[in-house]
Amino acid sequence: MGILALEDIQPGMILASDLRTSQGRLLLPRQAAIEAKHLRMARIWGISEADIEGVIDQPDKNVLDSADPALRDLFQEILAWRFANHDGKVQPMRRLMDLFVHRLNALAAAGMEQDLLRERFIGPFLSISLEQETSAPLSGRVLSCEEMLLREPSLACHPDIFHEIVEASGNPKISAAHLAEIIGKDPSLASRLLRLVNSAFYSFENKVDTLARAAAIVGTVQIANLAVGVSVISHFKGIPSGLVDMRAFWEHSIAVGVISRLLGVHRRIPIRERLFIAGLLHDLGRLVIYKNHLQQARALMTLALSSSEPMHELERASWGFTHAELGSLLLRKWRIPQVIQNSVACHHASFRSEATDEAKLVHLADVIAHALGFGHSGLRRVPPLCLKTWDHIGLPVSVLSTVAAQTDNQLRDLMRVFAVS
Ligand SMILES: [Fe+2]
Ligand SMILES: [Fe+2]
Repeated sequence: MGILALEDIQPGMILASDLRTSQGRLLLPRQAAIEAKHLRMARIWGISEADIEGVIDQPDKNVLDSADPALRDLFQEILAWRFANHDGKVQPMRRLMDLFVHRLNALAAAGMEQDLLRERFIGPFLSISLEQETSAPLSGRVLSCEEMLLREPSLACHPDIFHEIVEASGNPKISAAHLAEIIGKDPSLASRLLRLVNSAFYSFENKVDTLARAAAIVGTVQIANLAVGVSVISHFKGIPSGLVDMRAFWEHSIAVGVISRLLGVHRRIPIRERLFIAGLLHDLGRLVIYKNHLQQARALMTLALSSSEPMHELERASWGFTHAELGSLLLRKWRIPQVIQNSVACHHASFRSEATDEAKLVHLADVIAHALGFGHSGLRRVPPLCLKTWDHIGLPVSVLSTVAAQTDNQLRDLMRVFAVS
């Protein structure tokens, strides 16, 4: 089996994987013979490729062949930098590299200059030169998780409302009117949620103008989950962008949320808004570290650039804990649902027995967001993909191009909703 672009598929070919829309709707099951009408339908649904029996993916296919010759060296440099820890022989990674090159091509065709492409996808490194960073001290005591958590105040300017919303997120019996009444006590949260419901995230045909209506259409638990995430993001709005590239941080976080939710459709996860929030908050621990120990975090990233060890392993070796564990403990302190805590704690350890399917999806979404170049949370390198997790989830590789297109579309809207664009 292998991936073919829609224009290369001929009637009579056999599907190797289910053909689904980006919303997870089954168009044609695997093993079905493709007819001309199926190709027309796939085009209408915006599907660009399918997994076909008997097609062999070319292991040595040069993903740069499609690039403008004048840009090939630059693309090669960016690919080598970002995918330094991947050999490109693993099928999903190879596909992601391909999609990333398509994205680079599209940005260049839209007028992005070579210098800007290099800056966006390779550096600068946290706005400070590498020479300065190499001399930064790695020593200096880093506070323990518990000490850092003690410095984190209670969440949101309306803690009582927040806790009512957290309770609602675990209560499927709450009515839409009651939930709207709780959220309505915080007008800025209410208006941000309405903008979210009216964005490309849902793509409703008609405008939804009240929270009660939004809760009735989308579901009360789903809206309560979104309210939890929007509140947490607001709490961290104050970090100055000069220290950390906060725009890139939120772009990465929102992209991981969007991709987690899209993958959840394929995995039939029922409360997909919870997956969005788990993705949105997965690197929250990094923000707590930046607030308390920016110099040590930068020094550790410098070390990561010359090491084959992933960043979270270096955190554990140097500090005794990872940003994933710290983020999860903070969510526990704020009584955010346990399933979200688990996803955050395990997003770099999805092979562990305690990692739920949701945590596995957030892990995959994190790698996919990095690979496609949607923001970053400090380092622009693509973290390792756990192949065991990829196999366990069982996604067809063909899903990746749909996910890339959908994320690009939703992300632009959501950056405006969360006011981080
Ligand atoms: Fe992470
Ligand atoms: Fe991440």
